[in-house]
Amino acid sequence: MERTLVLVKPDAVKRGLSGEIIARLEKSGLKLVALKMLQANQVLASKHYAVHKERPFFNDLIQSITSAPIAAAIFEGDNAVKRARVVMGATNPANAEKGTIRGDLGLSIEANSVHGSDAIETALFESSLYFAECEVTEYNRE
Ligand code: RTP
Ligand code: MG
Repeated sequence: MERTLVLVKPDAVKRGLSGEIIARLEKSGLKLVALKMLQANQVLASKHYAVHKERPFFNDLIQSITSAPIAAAIFEGDNAVKRARVVMGATNPANAEKGTIRGDLGLSIEANSVHGSDAIETALFESSLYFAECEVTEYNRE
């Protein structure tokens, strides 16, 4: 069974959209198996986005993701990585389809409301940054 890490980013938490974003993913059929709020520090954010450290937007990205609390979640299901990214929509809200999280709620490429892991290995790594194994639950979704 596949799992993916989702972050409700600061721009969405601050607008009171955490519940709506988590609900959209749940309604898509993915099972919520872990959930917490936290404010990421520089160390955590830099580990998470290490793949982007040479990119021109890296400093802005770290500044943005650490600027206020985030809601971190793990969703589980067949093909969870890909399915969550479909529900989220394109990185830039201007290019994201209506009906997707970023298309409906995203403000800009920097404030695009949500993060989702991009591969199974990335999901494992990112999940381990935000959650201990004992924080990831098991239950049957009805
Ligand atoms: P994410 O990792 O947040 O789920 O987003 P993604 O896979 O769709 O996009 P990625 O290429 O991994 O970029 C990570 C985040 O960096 C910000 N970004 N800013 N100013 C820019 O050109 C730019 N490009 C990317 C976005 O907030 C993106 O979600
Ligand atoms: Mg990414």
